[in-house]
Amino acid sequence: HSASFTLDPAFTIAPVNRRTFGSFVEHMGRCVYTGIYEPDHPTADANGFRRDVLDLVRELGVGTVRYPGGNFVSGYRWEDGVGPRDRRPVRRELAWHSTETNQFGLDEFIRWTAEAGIEPMMAVNLGTRGLQEAIDLLEYANHPGGTRLSDQRIANGSPDPHGIRMWCLGNEMDGPWQIGHKTAHEYGRLAAETARAMRMSDPDLELVACGSSGSQMPTFGAWEAEVLEQTYDHVDYISLHAYYQEHDGDLASFLASAADMDHFIESVVATADHVRARLKAGKRIQLSFDEWNVWYQSRFHDEGAPTDWPVAPRVIEDRYNLADAVVVGGLLISLLRHSDRVTSASLAQLVNVIAPIMTEPGGPAWRQTIFHPFAETSRTARGEVLRVEPVAPVQDTGRHGEVPVIDAVATHDPESGEAAVFVINRSVDEPVTLDVDARGLGAERVTECLTLSGPDAYAVNTAEAPDRVVPRENKDARLADGRLDVVLPPVSWTVVKLA
Ligand code: AHR
Repeated sequence: HSASFTLDPAFTIAPVNRRTFGSFVEHMGRCVYTGIYEPDHPTADANGFRRDVLDLVRELGVGTVRYPGGNFVSGYRWEDGVGPRDRRPVRRELAWHSTETNQFGLDEFIRWTAEAGIEPMMAVNLGTRGLQEAIDLLEYANHPGGTRLSDQRIANGSPDPHGIRMWCLGNEMDGPWQIGHKTAHEYGRLAAETARAMRMSDPDLELVACGSSGSQMPTFGAWEAEVLEQTYDHVDYISLHAYYQEHDGDLASFLASAADMDHFIESVVATADHVRARLKAGKRIQLSFDEWNVWYQSRFHDEGAPTDWPVAPRVIEDRYNLADAVVVGGLLISLLRHSDRVTSASLAQLVNVIAPIMTEPGGPAWRQTIFHPFAETSRTARGEVLRVEPVAPVQDTGRHGEVPVIDAVATHDPESGEAAVFVINRSVDEPVTLDVDARGLGAERVTECLTLSGPDAYAVNTAEAPDRVVPRENKDARLADGRLDVVLPPVSWTVVKLA
């Protein structure tokens, strides 16, 4: 196969936004306990945070982290997780059928984000709780002092306000599995009133209303429209969640997952703009894609929830293969391509639970395959996102129809003159020779070209062999007279850096 496209620094979509490279820490399985927090671990710091995990989180290049859920938040009492540890209650956790020790809570999370250099993004419980608890939490977290709750925070060891700007108004409230699940009308009213009260305390907050928990939900579209009709003036974002997996050995469809993400994003943009027109509103609603990843959900449903209320059990610890990493690289291409409207996103999740980083209790931490496209994209994407229109053969996929065999996006930093092309080859068996007309960029050389590929699309990284699937130098990239040529192996993800 061969494919081509043209890069022009004038064809900008939007600035690269650090919030595109967000992730998600839920009190679920081993994401918190024995994931980011393990006081007995040999690398633990004075706060009990695993330093080996912190190092990997920094290397991953995470911009924001959403916390504390997920489904967990819909039954959570935030007060349980603050104050002296020996007085924190142990509780049953209904969403994942676990026991929550509350040894880690809001103040620990904020300390951890500061150590990791990450912006926190907090979710409030609109399942079992409501407006009062949300504004109490906001007062505890963000008010400087001199009130009951802010003074409690100070007494608990955090003299400075946490300054959390982004707040999610509940989680997946359209899902019948959600604790305190609501109709769009019920949720829209509650979200609007909660947002209004939160803004009375701080007008500069950035608030996220729950969209559908997936585009396959029967209420998708109608839910967004009704929720936004009620919340439009009070919120900044509507959320999207999507998880992908290979079904029945259909690798070609799986590799085209970003086509579904494109369609999902464009459908939510259309719905939000339709409400904007009906309300004659000025502002545009942004999209927060605050859960996305590969997740073999069918395996999870086969296994079922634990029955004996374990503490930090091993749940949904998917082992990712090369194909999963190519899909994750492709989903990031889709998010970047929509940077004009998707201005916040969270890879779900960060450690152990469907995660780029794995740990063993008392043992090592290592990078799953999906770590690599995320880290490289986060490290390299700078400046402006550029529009890319590939001319490429199409392949027919069972789930997503006809898709171009490659998918790509580019970034260009006008200040440094550096540019980068991110591209996946979705063919299961054919290489693609890519020809890029980059004359408009004025670049002189390829500074680096890395490709993630291999003979086995199902190869995984493990604690024993953590570097089986890693990006390797692609020696087939050349830039001559402003034209870039590179060979993309089948089932591969590539970044080409130009200067
Ligand atoms: O990320 C795992 C779960 O997926 C989250 O708790 C929930 O919001 C979603 O259904």
